[in-house]
Amino acid sequence: MDSNGTNTINASEEQIDLEHYTQSVIASISSKASPRVKKAFPILIKKLHEFIVEADVTVEEWLAACALLVEAGQVTTDQRDEMVLVSDVLGVESLVDILAFKRSSEAAKKDQQASAVEPSHSAILGPFYRHGVPIQPNGTTIVRQLEKDADYTRLFGRVFDAQGKPLKGATVDIWHDAPDGLYDAQDPTKPQYHCRGRFETDENGRYETICLRPTPYPIPFDHSAGKLLQMMGRHPYRPAHIHVSKSQGWVRGIPLTLCVTQFWIEAAGHKTLVSQVFDRESDYLKDDAVFAVKDSLIIDFIPIAQGKSAKEGYTAPDELRDVLKYELEQDFHLTKAVGGSEDPGLDIQGLAIGGEPVKS
Ligand SMILES: [Fe+2]
Repeated sequence: MDSNGTNTINASEEQIDLEHYTQSVIASISSKASPRVKKAFPILIKKLHEFIVEADVTVEEWLAACALLVEAGQVTTDQRDEMVLVSDVLGVESLVDILAFKRSSEAAKKDQQASAVEPSHSAILGPFYRHGVPIQPNGTTIVRQLEKDADYTRLFGRVFDAQGKPLKGATVDIWHDAPDGLYDAQDPTKPQYHCRGRFETDENGRYETICLRPTPYPIPFDHSAGKLLQMMGRHPYRPAHIHVSKSQGWVRGIPLTLCVTQFWIEAAGHKTLVSQVFDRESDYLKDDAVFAVKDSLIIDFIPIAQGKSAKEGYTAPDELRDVLKYELEQDFHLTKAVGGSEDPGLDIQGLAIGGEPVKS
């Protein structure tokens, strides 16, 4: 806003003062805005305006970009999030994840009570997480329909707290694609929750299931994210991976809204960890369409014979003994949840849409 208290722009001038224009937009943010908005929005507006000017964006391009986001919203359901996918192919979700891990890792190091063990690395959530998956007994399979010729895998491990002690009662969500490269939500011919399950760790912090060795798959490219990939001349494939999400207690941020709410009240003070593990032998490890591969998350599937684990003398259930070909032991180390802060962040979920306009 200028000295006359106006934020209009004189477009008849030969040299329009774009910097002044951007500053007037930033200055329009009310003093009543939250501290987080007052800190973040000026940066957002400045960078966005710089992009528009430097790329010399046309009206047609701007409208096309708006239409692309509208389309993403229209095809988003509770089983597929196209907006997340749009952010993924531009590397944004992975960047947010990298910053989140750095933040929690540094907080853990500062905490004198914390274990010397490094927290497990996180990875992006992706568009196919599902709410409301029922908890099933440890050791049972998440493969809900026989997958002929698939590589059945025993997946097990322990979840540890911030002090390095086994954590009882943590929920472990696991999901991966079927051998045809599709998640359950993409394939109505498959049973509900196929290749997806939720477990609760026992008194030793253990979880266990039988899943499949996953296969590389293309992310959905039939809408906005696919159009972006096409524009950039990129392929849509992801390397073979298994998604894992663990929680015990309440945390703030995106993972919270995707956690089951029964842990909201009984806060045990650990930050939800959302992660993935990647098959070392998979294609596309070096050119993941959504930039999520971290060296620390690349793992090996260990071959086992006749459903028996050499390590623990484990024997598979009779019906799966002939198909169980690999095992994968994967432990996870959680960090303490970050407590309340003076700046609560952007509560976008809590904003009321509509209603009376804000009066200055
Ligand atoms: Fe995935």
